[in-house]
Amino acid sequence: MQRVFSGIQPSGVPTLGNYLGAIRNWVPMQDQHESLFCIVDMHAITVFQEPAQLLAQTREMAATLLACGLSPEKCILFVQSHVPAHAELAWIFNCVARMGWLNRMTQFKDKAGKDREAASAGLYVYPNLMAADILAYKATSVPVGDDQKQHLELANDIAQKFNHDYQADFFPRIEPHILGVAARVMSLRDGTKKMSKSDASDQSRINLNDDADTIRNKIKRAKTDTEPLPDNMLGFEGRPEARNLVGILAAITGETQEGVLRAHGGKGFGPFKEVLADALIAHLEPIRTEMLRLLEDAPALDAALRRGAEQADAIAGPIVTEVKRIVGFLPRK
Ligand code: TYM
Repeated sequence: MQRVFSGIQPSGVPTLGNYLGAIRNWVPMQDQHESLFCIVDMHAITVFQEPAQLLAQTREMAATLLACGLSPEKCILFVQSHVPAHAELAWIFNCVARMGWLNRMTQFKDKAGKDREAASAGLYVYPNLMAADILAYKATSVPVGDDQKQHLELANDIAQKFNHDYQADFFPRIEPHILGVAARVMSLRDGTKKMSKSDASDQSRINLNDDADTIRNKIKRAKTDTEPLPDNMLGFEGRPEARNLVGILAAITGETQEGVLRAHGGKGFGPFKEVLADALIAHLEPIRTEMLRLLEDAPALDAALRRGAEQADAIAGPIVTEVKRIVGFLPRK
């Protein structure tokens, strides 16, 4: 049986991109496999987070994931900083990964921007912690959006180099699961940039806690061009915003993009946006209502996360103890 692992940063409210690219695909996996889903607060602080906000966002993330359909009865849902194995294995991986590998990471280049000297060292070694997240459980199946592909390739490089350097057939190969038409949902303000919870403009994204009016307004104001919608996929050439909005409707309704174009090709964006906003509101409103309900009982949320951490610890603890033995650390007892 495969073990599934994935993570999400509590660096803001989860967006439609997180939902369509990742969370929605996690839900059916918990019925088929042993699955761990982790709120990665240690990754979040690679970029400064206000402490009170980080704490609130961590609970909000837990409530949202539960509202989207994850169940503590079926999967292990927990907070990264609650399980010491992540930080311990990440340190060992800092010593396995090569500077040259990290220098090639496009996400670091994007996030650090022009002033790389000012980026945190944590941001630079971010992918090593991500490799530790997965490999501390010897997980083999990792459902993520398209933007995480390069990080997972690096995780495999780390696992292989560890196995080779220590002459141990220890870590398994990781398979990325990049699913569906919406593996890359783009910004509503710029069809060439991914939708992100940390984008400065709230208008660029749909947050899973946006109410119906906010969703309708954001879709109404979403950037488009002046042409009507194309009637086939070739017509998306040079029109990233049109492609993105059609992709979102397809993902949310379970239609193919071709099907959406058959129904709406030749129409102006005005009426199409009405249909899109209605579909989004119908889909997201129940999630928002459930999330708000769950947030009213913080102690229950915290208790669920604590149980998740205990279960995660029970798997990762012995694996990391074995890694330490392989590396040659003197056992404590
Ligand atoms: P984060 O929080 O940035 O994103 C969480 C998940 O959402 C996906 N995603 C998107 N998918 C489609 N369109 C978008 N616009 C979009 N934006 C985000 C991401 O691909 C991701 O699957 N590094 C990870 C967190 C992580 C992790 C891990 C994932 C830490 N450790 C171990 C897997 C395994 C991240 O960036 O999360």
